[in-house]
Amino acid sequence: MAVVIHVLDLFLLVSSAMPIPFPSSSGVNMEEMSLTLKRMQQSLSQQAWALYQMLDLSRKYHICAQEPCCPPPFARVIDECFYLSLNNLTWQQARQHCRGMDGLLAKPKRVFALKSFLMGKAGPNTVFLGGQQHDGIWTWVDGSSINPSAWTEGYPSNWTTQENQCIVMKQDNHPPLSTQPCSAVKQFICQHPGIQEKVKTSG
Ligand SMILES: *[C@@H]1O[C@H](CO)[C@@H](O)[C@H](O)[C@H]1NC(C)=O
Ligand SMILES: *[C@@H]1O[C@H](CO)[C@@H](O)[C@H](O)[C@H]1NC(C)=O
Repeated sequence: MAVVIHVLDLFLLVSSAMPIPFPSSSGVNMEEMSLTLKRMQQSLSQQAWALYQMLDLSRKYHICAQEPCCPPPFARVIDECFYLSLNNLTWQQARQHCRGMDGLLAKPKRVFALKSFLMGKAGPNTVFLGGQQHDGIWTWVDGSSINPSAWTEGYPSNWTTQENQCIVMKQDNHPPLSTQPCSAVKQFICQHPGIQEKVKTSG
């Protein structure tokens, strides 16, 4: 909170810097002119200093206009934070990778919003998400249930419960959820819970 007030103070400082009038043109008064220039320089350097401080603060603290605040490299999709990996890993390796980013393999509330995100990134057709099955019951990694209407027609099929299969999202499919062997090597999507406070120290 104190940081927000500090930033507002800086804004006021910048906006209160008044334009300085030029000396009257009735006569050339070098002394007056030089004084005006000095004042302008001073005013400009004050503004530059204030802007620099604001930039520095916004770098130092995550200042977000909207919640949740998604720390880079996560991007906000409606009210969730996602990251499309550049590297290709197995499902287990991908899960570990996402945990290492303080997140989870993605367990989207809105599968179609995540599909739009993937298409917007010009991502690969197939990516791992954080879904798996135990005894034929498919859930997201946090145990939450999967909306049945998110599955591609025919999925999850009977045979997929017999194999070591994990959930993928396919851009070409509508609805997009399908399954692939967990041992396949693919790009994946991580999810971050988001930072709820508008201002948070970076450490
Ligand atoms: C990951 O796999 C995709 C699809 O096979 C490939 O286009 C991409 O170059 C791979 N990325 C890396 C970092 O190897
Ligand atoms: C697939 O599962 C459904 C429902 O559990 C069952 O009715 C059907 O016989 C199964 N099909 C095969 C080929 O096992």
